[in-house]
Amino acid sequence: MRRARPTARKSLSLSRVYRLLEPGPVVLLTTANQGRANVMTMSWHTMLEFEPPLVGCVVSNRNFSFEALNVRKECVINIPTVKLAEAVVKCGNASGRRKDKFAAFGLTAVPATQVAAPLIAECYANLECQVVDAALVARYNFFVLEVVKAWIDPKVGVPRTLHHRGRGEFMVAGRTLRLTSRAK
Ligand SMILES: Cc1cc2nc3c(=O)[nH]c(=O)nc-3n(C[C@H](O)[C@H](O)[C@H](O)COP(=O)(O)O)c2cc1C
Repeated sequence: MRRARPTARKSLSLSRVYRLLEPGPVVLLTTANQGRANVMTMSWHTMLEFEPPLVGCVVSNRNFSFEALNVRKECVINIPTVKLAEAVVKCGNASGRRKDKFAAFGLTAVPATQVAAPLIAECYANLECQVVDAALVARYNFFVLEVVKAWIDPKVGVPRTLHHRGRGEFMVAGRTLRLTSRAK
């Protein structure tokens, strides 16, 4: 048996694990409650089903968006590209409790068709969603969303989306690899 060589690996703090597995892209979640629209940055989300598309996401109950999502049970997942990087970070570092983030950060709210929350015009894709399962909200702030209407800007070919690596560091998507795969 070959003896494995000692590697130069370092132990990684468990608090940093999310940086390796964090799904992308970073999105802007819009909600509307009591006539007020809001937007927050979100990177903790995951696909759960192809069709109807189901998406799981964590929205902290410390965020203003939490109440809107929990009460109204609907939202829009807006997918920005690198052009919106500054606004993405700003929306993740300010609360809608005291600020109109659309006006403050130059985002245009456009009415959605199926939900009260607005689309963001500057984002290349917008997914109108309804909360279909709140069983894990009390324990994990985890909402299961069903995408009921999806919009895409056909002019954007390969979207240069942002992928969070923690502490204000982002990877920017760009290259496309086409490989034979059984995955959809
Ligand atoms: C890159 C990035 C990713 C974030 N991801 C999440 C997330 O997945 N879930 C969450 O609850 N907050 C996340 N946040 C924090 C919220 O965006 C932030 O607390 C925001 O101020 C909440 O706004 P609100 O109070 O108007 O809802 C993220 C922030 C940044 C900058």
